[in-house]
Amino acid sequence: MGRSLKAKSQRFSEIQWIEETGSTNRDLLEAARQGQRDGSVLVTNHQTAGRGRQGRAWHDDPGSSLLFSVLLRPEPDHVSLFPLVMGLAVVEAVRVSSSVDAVLKWPNDVLVAGPDGTERKLAGILAEATGSASDLAVVIGCGINVAFVTSPPIEVADRAIDLAAATEATDGVESIDRAALLDTILARLEYWLTALETGGAARILAAYRDCCITVGRNIRLETPTGVVEGTAVDIDPNGALVIDSNGTRRSYFAGDAHHLV
Ligand code: BTN
Repeated sequence: MGRSLKAKSQRFSEIQWIEETGSTNRDLLEAARQGQRDGSVLVTNHQTAGRGRQGRAWHDDPGSSLLFSVLLRPEPDHVSLFPLVMGLAVVEAVRVSSSVDAVLKWPNDVLVAGPDGTERKLAGILAEATGSASDLAVVIGCGINVAFVTSPPIEVADRAIDLAAATEATDGVESIDRAALLDTILARLEYWLTALETGGAARILAAYRDCCITVGRNIRLETPTGVVEGTAVDIDPNGALVIDSNGTRRSYFAGDAHHLV
């Protein structure tokens, strides 16, 4: 059975924490179709069919991660900044809770420096929508590597990191309070969503640019329609990445960014 927690955030006051599920994103999308309210949060200790960006799977060992999704019923105009806002909230919460210097790779991979100084992924975020413009629901899910139980899959082993390693905690998941971290993330998320809903988009973008290390870098962007290389020069007002490729600037809404240097 799940347990309900009392939260710091008012908007995200209804938190269900369950032992195991296929995917918290999938569950909340289904709940949204059944009329579940804005602000619902679902957390689990393990997903058996976790979803990642670009149709990939998101794997975890039981108890090794903080895995959660939030349900929002937004104005359609605000949706394009949602993935960035969650990234910002997670970076701020990680910095405050663990003094780890987390940063963002556009759009919302949370990175920290590994022991060899390379950029490693600490957390990933996936936003999915259901319904129509007049009845829109958006679910934003986040998976944070807290303390790996087994080594991550070989294909990501040299690109992933857990919070235990990032903070050099020695006794793993027990020493990192996942509920407290979640509380801080939700409080920051509520803060930035309120900003978005009250005309503060420019403030959000300024805070996002401060945390996002993609801007200014030479990158390769794998988009759903092809690959582009160039210099990431800005984040536009809709949260798209602006790339200068041989003097031509274009905005991209989706893709996997690879920092080249
Ligand atoms: C990525 O590919 O970087 C995004 C990963 C998002 C994983 C989280 S875990 C909680 C939520 N439920 C899912 O099925 N996916 C997201």
